[in-house]
Amino acid sequence: MAGLSGGEESATHVEHEIRLNDPQTLYRHWEDSQWSPFAIDLSTDRAQWGQMEGEDRDLIFFVLSSLMVAEERITTKFSGLVGAYGSEEEATFLSTQQVDEARHMQFYARFQDEVVAAPDAIAAHVERARGQVSDAFRQIFDVELVRAHERLVQEPASMDAKVRFVTLYHIILEATLGLTSFKFTTDHLSREALLPGFVEGYSRIHHDETRHIAYGVWFLREAVRSRPENAETVRETLRDLLPSVAASLAPPDAGSGRDFEGIGASSESISAFALGGLERRLEIIGVPLSSIVA
Ligand SMILES: [Fe+2]
Ligand SMILES: [Fe+2]
Repeated sequence: MAGLSGGEESATHVEHEIRLNDPQTLYRHWEDSQWSPFAIDLSTDRAQWGQMEGEDRDLIFFVLSSLMVAEERITTKFSGLVGAYGSEEEATFLSTQQVDEARHMQFYARFQDEVVAAPDAIAAHVERARGQVSDAFRQIFDVELVRAHERLVQEPASMDAKVRFVTLYHIILEATLGLTSFKFTTDHLSREALLPGFVEGYSRIHHDETRHIAYGVWFLREAVRSRPENAETVRETLRDLLPSVAASLAPPDAGSGRDFEGIGASSESISAFALGGLERRLEIIGVPLSSIVA
């Protein structure tokens, strides 16, 4: 299935995202991209999970926990953007993204039900998974995202609130953190022939995410073109968030000598991948990274 397997980030990939960028086109793609989190075979995953051990299992458990919490946050902290739509086509696309995020949360909850833990309510899975996530992760998902979403709910007509929210949600969470986590996790699992059902579901999710990110880049590029002050809001949001982003890309228990080497990736290669993608998207939006960190 082309486009669902590899996690290779490239300039071509970014250009592809941008070409498929207006909300009506993205909505039409959504109609052709339906999948069910309950149709994926998890039987091999269940057998393998029981036999996995050591650091490999710990790191995968950490990633699974982070994904469970992240998708709960981004499902329940999104509706404000649907209410802040600028056209009927944009309202349509944003409604589909709301459905996608709920579907992603359902897939990770099913994985907890059937592979990692025992059947339980989503809230209970999220609560247990929260024991694994870092302070930097909490700062982004529980403080910054919640604050940006609450403001958008209160001020749906504020372009400033919408630009801040999309910069945080689509550019930082989905593109910078999400695509990076996808690439290194699925590269490792595919190389080791581990958890094939999880890789299939995560690849479906990734396919949805590239559509969401394409919307974010489209919206911000239009916003910056039509009102140059919006560029300053993008810059401000990134300046506020980049320290927590860098910290959340670090491995768990950073400082104690532990690394993501267990999944075949150095901290340097992870940061370089995340920063490279961010840099290319900001270039297209019209707010180069050099204007933020200079
Ligand atoms: Fe998602
Ligand atoms: Fe998404």
